[in-house]
Amino acid sequence: MILDIHAHIIPGVDDGASNISEALGLLKMLKTQGVDAVIATPHFYADTLNLDEYTQRVSQSFAVLKQAAQTQGLPELFLGYEVFYFNNMSNSDELKKLCINQSRYILIELPYADINDRILNDIYNIQSNQGLIPIIAHIERYSKFRGFEDLLRLIVNSDIEAQINADAVLGGPFKRISIKLILNEMCSYIASDAHSVSKRPPMIAEAYKKIEKKFGPEATRPFYRHGENLYRQLGQPVPV
Ligand SMILES: [Fe+2]
Repeated sequence: MILDIHAHIIPGVDDGASNISEALGLLKMLKTQGVDAVIATPHFYADTLNLDEYTQRVSQSFAVLKQAAQTQGLPELFLGYEVFYFNNMSNSDELKKLCINQSRYILIELPYADINDRILNDIYNIQSNQGLIPIIAHIERYSKFRGFEDLLRLIVNSDIEAQINADAVLGGPFKRISIKLILNEMCSYIASDAHSVSKRPPMIAEAYKKIEKKFGPEATRPFYRHGENLYRQLGQPVPV
């Protein structure tokens, strides 16, 4: 199965789909591209949003979209967030509310700046202290910052995972690093990070096709495997 773990398709909650028809349009595109299930991941910024108010608003909009998607035979939907890193994140009691569909997985966006030891330790502690599995969103975007190699080392030496945006594989400034990370098996997911039908449409099928054409059909197998594994764990919280 193809699981898209990063998409801004919940209407009216962030800079993604602006209304339900655009959200359904994005889901139709994803279906055409062979995507079976999608994790909706609206942005969450701890410094500007009230978590309880925001998650309630998101859940309401998500429920309406899920119902409409089901009726139209569109990909299965799950709720998550793209959580922008905040200080001392590993000490927060609220992280479980931001995990993907009550699982152990949490999608984290890092600041666009050098990656220091404080952040790396904090990310590590999210895993070791809270038992969660951080997935670093569009990791390719941090490749130009100091500390990127340390971040990669952390991913290799822990259960922390990484996601690459499909459009990065197809072109632009992060194409080389994306291909390198894929070939070195440092990335577990290719995701759409879709925002809009016209400006930032999903490109999953093209990215998979390109990887397979260049490196053989086996090159995309890890993405199917990781997607299936995550799908199986949806709804399975951290054991206490
Ligand atoms: Fe995103």
